[in-house]
Amino acid sequence: MSLQHIPVLKEESISLLNIKPNGVYVDCTLGGGGHFTSILEKLGTDGFLIGIDKDKRMIKLMNEKLGDRKNVFLIHDNFKNIKKIITNLGFKEVDGILYDLGVSSYQLDEKERGFSYMEDVPLDMRMNEEQEIKAEDLVNTLSEKELTEIIREYGEEKWANRISKFIVAYREQERIKTTGQLVEIIKNAIPARARRRGPHPAKRTFQALRIAVNDEMDSLKESLYDAVDILAVEGRCCVISFHSLEDRIVKRVFKYLAKDCECPPGLPECVCNKKSELKILTKKPIIPTKQEIGQNPRSRSAKLRAVEKV
Ligand SMILES: C[S@@+](CC[C@H](N)C(=O)[O-])C[C@H]1O[C@@H](n2cnc3c(N)ncnc32)[C@H](O)[C@@H]1O
Repeated sequence: MSLQHIPVLKEESISLLNIKPNGVYVDCTLGGGGHFTSILEKLGTDGFLIGIDKDKRMIKLMNEKLGDRKNVFLIHDNFKNIKKIITNLGFKEVDGILYDLGVSSYQLDEKERGFSYMEDVPLDMRMNEEQEIKAEDLVNTLSEKELTEIIREYGEEKWANRISKFIVAYREQERIKTTGQLVEIIKNAIPARARRRGPHPAKRTFQALRIAVNDEMDSLKESLYDAVDILAVEGRCCVISFHSLEDRIVKRVFKYLAKDCECPPGLPECVCNKKSELKILTKKPIIPTKQEIGQNPRSRSAKLRAVEKV
């Protein structure tokens, strides 16, 4: 297997993690191991690195690549279980956590997995192939309203209404089983003049379905609170996101945890006792340079936010 994934904002995120050679670090989105390997290079023999991925193929691949390393753990799981994973490995706290969200080029390149609208294959899109629900289940069972919401919200697709209407009309005649069928439905739903501009007409809908199939937004929300909880004082958490909704979740969770008191204004004294847990290290998210975008167009929408535990 060959890996073609170019890690996004690698120098910036690794530098913000401020790696201590004897620290304990978690890469929540192992993928092809681009960021993971850079962290590992900075660790000494006393340091530990834990890599998590819900895609078993990524774990297998990195296991083959790394061989037996005493200070490395590769875990096939959802990063929303980060606390349980770390506790089961015997760690009480960690010094740094990295998330590089979304799908890897490697997964997109594996044609049979159904992530790409460029291939005609079964409509799957599961990052974790042990999961039951596939994209095929969503397009054939969700109501028109639910489909519209998913396509509009996760795909930021202005033709969401029409696309879901066309999906529902099609499936009344025949089950939608392949990416090819879905691409045709989308092309028929979007007026020709709108299809001539911008990216591939199916890009947004495919992104939306992938996010829904893999429950990406809820996993992130659940994971971030626990991640901050298991950070040691001065430990850092860095998140690279690719979608405005993801970035909004990261920004809001960090902002909430960095805030001291949450009492309504006008109270004579604080009754909530909420204490700030974080210092925000990136007032504005870090974005890729023009040069990085030129070399790796996939980095175009990336945003990096980082915090430090206080
Ligand atoms: C953008 S790739 C990471 C690429 C990696 N940083 C590199 O440089 O090679 C994201 C990876 O995170 C995994 N992933 C996405 N959501 C996840 C979740 N909730 N739990 C665990 N892994 C997840 C995907 O399967 C994918 O392999």
